Amino acid sequence: MDVDEALGRWRGLAPEAGSGPGSAGAPRHVLLEGFHALKHALRFGAVVPVALCADRAGALELAAELAPDLEGVLAGLLVEVDAETLRGLVARPHPTGVAALAERPDPVAVEAALRGVRRTPVVVLDQPRHLGNAGAVVRLAAGFGASGVVTTGPLDPWHPTVVRGGAGLHFATAVAPLEVPELPDGPLFALDPEGADIRGLTLPDDALLAFGSERHGLTAELRARADQLVALPMRPQVSSYNLATSVGMALFHWASASGAAPA
Ligand SMILES: C[S@@+](CC[C@H](N)C(=O)[O-])C[C@H]1O[C@@H](n2cnc3c(N)ncnc32)[C@H](O)[C@@H]1O
Repeated sequence: MDVDEALGRWRGLAPEAGSGPGSAGAPRHVLLEGFHALKHALRFGAVVPVALCADRAGALELAAELAPDLEGVLAGLLVEVDAETLRGLVARPHPTGVAALAERPDPVAVEAALRGVRRTPVVVLDQPRHLGNAGAVVRLAAGFGASGVVTTGPLDPWHPTVVRGGAGLHFATAVAPLEVPELPDGPLFALDPEGADIRGLTLPDDALLAFGSERHGLTAELRARADQLVALPMRPQVSSYNLATSVGMALFHWASASGAAPA
């Protein structure tokens, strides 16, 4: 693809990706910022109609070093544009000078995956507020091979800042907004400092692991749906852990007893 074609394609798709003014509705494409996000998205099957870079030789050197499995794909995909052009297209260009647009997975297929037979837990974030936390949780879920990440409340788990925090790993798991009554079936373990010590529990592979918001903890609605409240060990006088670190600890606890966890 030559530069003009790549820029035409970018401009045709980017407004609906949320990077242009006046975009409305759920965008069909998401912005991937940086080499690592593009690498992860491609590894997990994302369809990437256009990828730009400010330094093609540098990006291909990174590919040789960090993603030899993708060297050929990236060589065919990356189109070099000058740094100023890139800055005009992407609000905060990544230090690696790479940016791409990827097709967002079909929401119907994502929901079907969440509702199908699951061999690993789904993480539920109940009314999260912090976009960076949500991105970090997607990254954790991908690393642990969790079946998905569901958010309740107004935060869009496909917001560009969440995708940035997730390092392109939205494509490695199923990410969707759902309200509490719509949650998939399965035993729901809700994480709360007042719950039973997690060290005495085995979390089943089909569990829903729910976490409360940064400011207010779990909602009454989520608590009512929970089968059990579960606590992470914490010394007295510390009120709580950060949301994403709590998710990491709970997934680690599940993984250390499950044959379905990554080796
Ligand atoms: C930052 S905390 C929320 C703090 C909030 N002020 C509250 O009242 O709960 C975010 C979420 O992380 C989880 N969490 C944090 N510390 C925990 C602990 N020691 N045990 C279990 N869950 C914890 C809970 O799900 C909590 O709702």
